[in-house]
Amino acid sequence: MTKANQDLTIVLNHPAAESYASLIEERFPTVRTIVAADASDLEKNIGDADAVLAFRFPVEVFDKAKKLRWFQCTGAGVDSLYPIRDKVGHITVTNARGIHGEIIADFVMAGVTMLHWDFRRFLQEQERREWQPRYVAPLGDRTLGVIGLGSIGATIARRAKSAGMTVVGSKRDISQPVDGVDRLFAADAFDEFLPLCDFVVLALPSTPDTIGVIGASHFEKMKRSAFLVNIARGNVLVESELVAALQEKTIAGALLDVFEKEPLPSNSPLWGMPNVIATPHVAGSPTNYTERVFSILAENIENYLNGRPLKNVVDLSRGY
Ligand code: GLV
Repeated sequence: MTKANQDLTIVLNHPAAESYASLIEERFPTVRTIVAADASDLEKNIGDADAVLAFRFPVEVFDKAKKLRWFQCTGAGVDSLYPIRDKVGHITVTNARGIHGEIIADFVMAGVTMLHWDFRRFLQEQERREWQPRYVAPLGDRTLGVIGLGSIGATIARRAKSAGMTVVGSKRDISQPVDGVDRLFAADAFDEFLPLCDFVVLALPSTPDTIGVIGASHFEKMKRSAFLVNIARGNVLVESELVAALQEKTIAGALLDVFEKEPLPSNSPLWGMPNVIATPHVAGSPTNYTERVFSILAENIENYLNGRPLKNVVDLSRGY
Protein backbone atom coordinates (compact mmCIF):
# COMPACT_ATOMS: atom_id res chain seq x y z
CA MET A 1 0.00 0.00 0.00
CA THR A 2 1.85 3.07 -1.16
CA LYS A 3 -0.79 5.71 -1.98
CA ALA A 4 -2.26 7.81 0.85
CA ASN A 5 -5.95 6.97 1.29
CA GLN A 6 -8.57 9.53 2.26
CA ASP A 7 -11.40 7.10 2.73
CA LEU A 8 -11.54 3.95 4.72
CA THR A 9 -14.60 1.82 5.32
CA ILE A 10 -14.03 -1.16 7.60
CA VAL A 11 -16.56 -3.94 7.84
CA LEU A 12 -16.40 -5.57 11.26
CA ASN A 13 -17.48 -9.20 11.29
CA HIS A 14 -16.70 -10.35 14.78
CA PRO A 15 -18.50 -11.11 18.08
CA ALA A 16 -16.78 -7.99 19.56
CA ALA A 17 -17.61 -5.85 16.51
CA GLU A 18 -19.43 -3.16 18.52
CA SER A 19 -16.42 -2.70 20.81
CA TYR A 20 -14.06 -2.47 17.86
CA ALA A 21 -16.42 0.05 16.22
CA SER A 22 -16.42 2.32 19.31
CA LEU A 23 -12.65 2.16 19.65
CA ILE A 24 -12.19 3.01 15.96
CA GLU A 25 -14.78 5.81 15.97
CA GLU A 26 -13.21 7.42 19.01
CA ARG A 27 -9.68 7.40 17.63
CA PHE A 28 -10.44 7.81 13.92
CA PRO A 29 -13.62 9.86 13.46
CA THR A 30 -13.25 9.93 9.66
CA VAL A 31 -13.07 6.16 9.30
CA ARG A 32 -16.43 4.57 8.51
CA THR A 33 -17.24 1.39 10.40
CA ILE A 34 -19.97 -1.09 9.51
CA VAL A 35 -20.89 -3.76 12.01
CA ALA A 36 -21.84 -6.91 10.10
CA ALA A 37 -23.12 -9.12 12.85
CA ASP A 38 -24.47 -11.94 10.71
CA ALA A 39 -24.21 -13.43 7.25
CA SER A 40 -26.95 -11.26 5.75
CA ASP A 41 -25.41 -8.01 7.11
CA LEU A 42 -22.11 -9.13 5.75
CA GLU A 43 -23.52 -9.91 2.33
CA LYS A 44 -25.30 -6.52 2.26
CA ASN A 45 -22.25 -4.49 3.23
CA ILE A 46 -19.20 -6.30 1.93
CA GLY A 47 -19.31 -4.36 -1.37
CA ASP A 48 -18.53 -1.13 0.55
CA ALA A 49 -15.56 -2.57 2.44
CA ASP A 50 -12.06 -1.26 1.85
CA ALA A 51 -11.07 -3.40 4.80
CA VAL A 52 -12.51 -6.29 6.79
CA LEU A 53 -11.76 -7.09 10.41
CA ALA A 54 -12.66 -10.68 11.34
CA PHE A 55 -11.23 -13.83 12.87
CA ARG A 56 -12.23 -15.90 9.82
CA PHE A 57 -12.11 -14.37 6.37
CA PRO A 58 -15.65 -14.28 4.92
CA VAL A 59 -14.79 -16.50 1.96
CA GLU A 60 -18.46 -16.97 1.04
CA VAL A 61 -18.90 -13.28 0.09
CA PHE A 62 -15.48 -12.73 -1.38
CA ASP A 63 -16.79 -12.33 -4.94
CA LYS A 64 -18.88 -9.35 -3.79
CA ALA A 65 -15.94 -7.68 -2.04
CA LYS A 66 -15.05 -5.60 -5.08
CA LYS A 67 -13.29 -2.75 -3.21
CA LEU A 68 -11.53 -4.87 -0.62
CA ARG A 69 -7.82 -4.08 -0.23
CA TRP A 70 -7.01 -5.17 3.30
CA PHE A 71 -8.01 -8.01 5.63
CA GLN A 72 -7.06 -7.59 9.29
CA CYS A 73 -7.35 -10.94 11.03
CA THR A 74 -8.07 -10.70 14.77
CA GLY A 75 -6.13 -13.91 15.37
CA ALA A 76 -2.75 -15.31 14.44
CA GLY A 77 -3.77 -18.06 12.00
CA VAL A 78 -5.10 -16.92 8.61
CA ASP A 79 -5.98 -20.43 7.46
CA SER A 80 -9.58 -19.37 6.72
CA LEU A 81 -8.24 -17.62 3.61
CA TYR A 82 -6.67 -20.66 2.04
CA PRO A 83 -9.70 -21.88 0.09
CA ILE A 84 -9.44 -18.71 -2.03
CA ARG A 85 -5.77 -17.98 -1.77
CA ASP A 86 -5.27 -17.89 -5.55
CA LYS A 87 -7.75 -15.00 -5.78
CA VAL A 88 -6.54 -12.76 -2.96
CA GLY A 89 -3.14 -11.67 -4.26
CA HIS A 90 -4.24 -8.01 -4.49
CA ILE A 91 -5.34 -7.88 -0.84
CA THR A 92 -2.96 -7.11 2.01
CA VAL A 93 -3.48 -9.63 4.80
CA THR A 94 -2.40 -8.69 8.32
CA ASN A 95 -2.77 -10.64 11.53
CA ALA A 96 -2.60 -10.07 15.28
CA ARG A 97 0.70 -11.85 15.85
CA GLY A 98 2.56 -10.81 18.94
CA ILE A 99 -0.33 -10.93 21.41
CA HIS A 100 -0.60 -14.70 21.79
CA GLY A 101 2.90 -15.95 22.57
CA GLU A 102 3.16 -15.29 26.30
CA ILE A 103 -0.30 -16.58 27.22
CA ILE A 104 0.12 -19.68 25.03
CA ALA A 105 3.50 -20.30 26.65
CA ASP A 106 1.78 -20.00 30.08
CA PHE A 107 -0.77 -22.57 28.95
CA VAL A 108 1.83 -24.96 27.51
CA MET A 109 4.07 -24.81 30.59
CA ALA A 110 1.07 -25.37 32.90
CA GLY A 111 -0.13 -28.33 30.79
CA VAL A 112 3.36 -29.80 30.45
CA THR A 113 3.78 -29.59 34.24
CA MET A 114 0.39 -31.22 34.86
CA LEU A 115 1.15 -34.06 32.46
CA HIS A 116 4.68 -34.56 33.75
CA TRP A 117 3.57 -34.70 37.42
CA ASP A 118 0.41 -36.63 36.56
CA PHE A 119 -1.69 -34.13 38.44
CA ARG A 120 -4.84 -35.93 37.39
CA ARG A 121 -3.77 -38.82 39.59
CA PHE A 122 -3.02 -36.50 42.53
CA LEU A 123 -6.50 -34.99 42.21
CA GLN A 124 -8.11 -38.42 42.12
CA GLU A 125 -6.10 -39.49 45.17
CA GLN A 126 -7.08 -36.31 46.98
CA GLU A 127 -10.71 -37.06 46.31
CA ARG A 128 -10.22 -40.50 47.85
CA ARG A 129 -8.20 -38.97 50.78
CA GLU A 130 -5.24 -41.17 49.85
CA TRP A 131 -1.69 -40.25 50.80
CA GLN A 132 0.53 -41.59 48.00
CA PRO A 133 4.00 -39.99 47.95
CA ARG A 134 6.31 -40.62 44.99
CA TYR A 135 9.47 -39.41 43.28
CA VAL A 136 9.20 -37.22 40.23
CA ALA A 137 12.01 -36.21 37.87
CA PRO A 138 12.66 -32.48 37.69
CA LEU A 139 11.29 -30.93 34.51
CA GLY A 140 14.88 -29.87 33.81
CA ASP A 141 15.71 -33.53 33.08
CA ARG A 142 13.27 -33.48 30.19
CA THR A 143 13.42 -32.37 26.56
CA LEU A 144 10.74 -30.31 24.89
CA GLY A 145 10.58 -30.09 21.11
CA VAL A 146 8.76 -27.30 19.31
CA ILE A 147 7.64 -27.77 15.72
CA GLY A 148 7.26 -24.31 14.19
CA LEU A 149 9.28 -21.48 15.68
CA GLY A 150 7.32 -18.39 14.71
CA SER A 151 6.55 -15.83 17.38
CA ILE A 152 4.41 -18.33 19.39
CA GLY A 153 6.76 -21.31 19.06
CA ALA A 154 9.80 -19.20 19.88
CA THR A 155 8.12 -17.88 23.05
CA ILE A 156 7.29 -21.44 24.15
CA ALA A 157 10.91 -22.47 23.50
CA ARG A 158 12.25 -19.58 25.58
CA ARG A 159 9.91 -20.37 28.47
CA ALA A 160 10.75 -24.10 28.41
CA LYS A 161 14.43 -23.19 28.44
CA SER A 162 13.92 -20.92 31.43
CA ALA A 163 12.24 -23.87 33.22
CA GLY A 164 15.56 -25.68 32.79
CA MET A 165 14.44 -28.02 30.01
CA THR A 166 16.52 -29.05 27.04
CA VAL A 167 14.81 -27.49 24.04
CA VAL A 168 14.95 -28.69 20.46
CA GLY A 169 13.10 -27.11 17.60
CA SER A 170 12.18 -27.70 14.02
CA LYS A 171 11.53 -25.03 11.39
CA ARG A 172 11.83 -24.38 7.69
CA ASP A 173 14.74 -21.99 7.81
CA ILE A 174 17.43 -23.11 10.23
CA SER A 175 20.13 -20.74 9.03
CA GLN A 176 19.78 -18.51 12.13
CA PRO A 177 19.84 -19.75 15.74
CA VAL A 178 16.68 -19.29 17.84
CA ASP A 179 16.97 -17.97 21.37
CA GLY A 180 16.44 -20.75 23.92
CA VAL A 181 16.67 -23.59 21.38
CA ASP A 182 19.59 -25.92 22.04
CA ARG A 183 19.37 -27.75 18.72
CA LEU A 184 17.57 -26.81 15.55
CA PHE A 185 16.37 -29.35 13.00
CA ALA A 186 15.13 -28.90 9.46
CA ALA A 187 11.37 -29.28 9.02
CA ASP A 188 11.77 -32.72 7.42
CA ALA A 189 14.23 -34.14 9.99
CA PHE A 190 11.52 -35.84 12.09
CA ASP A 191 13.42 -39.15 12.28
CA GLU A 192 16.15 -37.46 14.27
CA PHE A 193 14.04 -34.88 16.08
CA LEU A 194 11.05 -36.83 17.44
CA PRO A 195 12.88 -39.60 19.35
CA LEU A 196 14.67 -36.91 21.42
CA CYS A 197 11.51 -35.33 22.80
CA ASP A 198 9.58 -35.96 26.02
CA PHE A 199 7.10 -33.31 24.88
CA VAL A 200 6.36 -32.42 21.25
CA VAL A 201 4.62 -29.06 20.87
CA LEU A 202 2.91 -28.25 17.57
CA ALA A 203 3.15 -24.50 16.93
CA LEU A 204 3.12 -24.43 13.14
CA PRO A 205 0.59 -22.55 11.01
CA SER A 206 -2.10 -24.46 9.17
CA THR A 207 -1.42 -24.06 5.45
CA PRO A 208 -2.05 -26.31 2.44
CA ASP A 209 1.47 -27.68 3.08
CA THR A 210 0.97 -28.46 6.77
CA ILE A 211 -2.56 -29.91 6.83
CA GLY A 212 -2.32 -33.48 8.13
CA VAL A 213 1.45 -33.24 8.28
CA ILE A 214 1.63 -35.07 11.63
CA GLY A 215 0.23 -38.58 11.78
CA ALA A 216 0.77 -42.21 12.76
CA SER A 217 4.33 -42.44 11.43
CA HIS A 218 5.32 -39.49 13.64
CA PHE A 219 3.68 -40.86 16.77
CA GLU A 220 5.59 -44.09 16.19
CA LYS A 221 8.87 -42.16 16.17
CA MET A 222 8.06 -40.53 19.52
CA LYS A 223 9.01 -42.14 22.84
CA ARG A 224 6.21 -44.21 24.36
CA SER A 225 6.57 -41.99 27.44
CA ALA A 226 6.23 -38.77 25.41
CA PHE A 227 3.33 -36.31 25.30
CA LEU A 228 1.97 -34.36 22.35
CA VAL A 229 0.83 -30.76 22.79
CA ASN A 230 -1.24 -29.05 20.07
CA ILE A 231 -1.85 -25.31 20.31
CA ALA A 232 -1.67 -24.78 16.52
CA ARG A 233 -4.71 -25.95 14.54
CA GLY A 234 -6.51 -29.26 14.81
CA ASN A 235 -5.93 -30.08 11.16
CA VAL A 236 -2.12 -30.03 11.26
CA LEU A 237 -2.43 -33.58 12.57
CA VAL A 238 -4.61 -36.49 11.54
CA GLU A 239 -6.92 -36.68 14.55
CA SER A 240 -8.07 -40.28 13.99
CA GLU A 241 -4.42 -41.39 13.96
CA LEU A 242 -3.77 -39.46 17.17
CA VAL A 243 -6.77 -41.14 18.82
CA ALA A 244 -5.38 -44.54 17.77
CA ALA A 245 -1.89 -43.67 19.08
CA LEU A 246 -3.39 -42.61 22.42
CA GLN A 247 -5.59 -45.70 22.66
CA GLU A 248 -2.74 -48.03 21.76
CA LYS A 249 -0.34 -46.15 24.10
CA THR A 250 2.07 -45.46 21.23
CA ILE A 251 2.52 -42.17 23.09
CA ALA A 252 1.73 -41.44 26.75
CA GLY A 253 -0.79 -38.65 26.38
CA ALA A 254 -1.73 -35.29 24.92
CA LEU A 255 -2.66 -31.73 25.75
CA LEU A 256 -5.02 -30.54 23.03
CA ASP A 257 -6.44 -27.04 22.71
CA VAL A 258 -7.41 -27.32 19.04
CA PHE A 259 -9.30 -29.96 17.09
CA GLU A 260 -10.19 -30.90 13.52
CA LYS A 261 -13.77 -29.91 14.28
CA GLU A 262 -14.57 -27.19 16.83
CA PRO A 263 -16.42 -27.26 19.14
CA LEU A 264 -15.09 -30.78 19.71
CA PRO A 265 -18.13 -33.01 19.02
CA SER A 266 -19.60 -34.50 22.19
CA ASN A 267 -19.06 -38.02 20.82
CA SER A 268 -15.32 -37.52 20.23
CA PRO A 269 -13.32 -40.20 22.07
CA LEU A 270 -10.83 -37.47 23.03
CA TRP A 271 -13.25 -36.11 25.67
CA GLY A 272 -13.14 -39.32 27.68
CA MET A 273 -9.50 -40.37 27.46
CA PRO A 274 -7.68 -40.53 30.80
CA ASN A 275 -4.39 -39.56 29.14
CA VAL A 276 -5.77 -36.43 27.41
CA ILE A 277 -6.29 -32.89 28.62
CA ALA A 278 -8.73 -31.27 26.18
CA THR A 279 -9.45 -27.52 26.35
CA PRO A 280 -11.77 -25.37 24.20
CA HIS A 281 -9.32 -23.39 22.00
CA VAL A 282 -8.42 -21.02 24.83
CA ALA A 283 -4.64 -21.04 24.91
CA GLY A 284 -4.20 -17.80 22.97
CA SER A 285 -6.96 -15.74 24.54
CA PRO A 286 -5.50 -13.17 26.92
CA THR A 287 -7.83 -10.80 28.77
CA ASN A 288 -8.34 -7.45 27.02
CA TYR A 289 -8.07 -9.27 23.70
CA THR A 290 -10.05 -6.57 21.88
CA GLU A 291 -7.82 -3.76 23.17
CA ARG A 292 -4.70 -5.75 22.29
CA VAL A 293 -5.91 -6.33 18.73
CA PHE A 294 -7.00 -2.70 18.52
CA SER A 295 -3.46 -1.50 19.21
CA ILE A 296 -2.32 -3.36 16.08
CA LEU A 297 -5.39 -2.32 14.11
CA ALA A 298 -4.97 1.35 15.09
CA GLU A 299 -1.35 1.36 13.94
CA ASN A 300 -2.46 -0.19 10.69
CA ILE A 301 -5.29 2.30 10.18
CA GLU A 302 -2.71 5.10 10.57
CA ASN A 303 -0.45 3.31 8.11
CA TYR A 304 -3.28 2.76 5.66
CA LEU A 305 -4.44 6.39 5.78
CA ASN A 306 -0.87 7.60 5.27
CA GLY A 307 -0.04 5.16 2.49
CA ARG A 308 2.60 3.44 4.59
CA PRO A 309 3.24 -0.31 4.63
CA LEU A 310 1.06 -2.17 7.11
CA LYS A 311 2.36 -3.99 10.19
CA ASN A 312 2.07 -7.77 10.67
CA VAL A 313 1.63 -8.55 6.98
CA VAL A 314 1.19 -12.28 6.38
CA ASP A 315 2.95 -14.01 3.52
CA LEU A 316 0.25 -16.44 2.43
CA SER A 317 2.77 -18.74 0.79
CA ARG A 318 4.24 -19.38 4.28
CA GLY A 319 1.16 -18.78 6.43
CA TYR A 320 2.78 -16.27 8.79
C1 GLV B 1 -6.24 -18.46 17.37
O1 GLV B 1 -6.25 -19.62 17.25
C2 GLV B 1 -5.55 -17.55 16.50
O2 GLV B 1 -5.17 -17.93 15.38
O3 GLV B 1 -5.35 -16.41 16.92
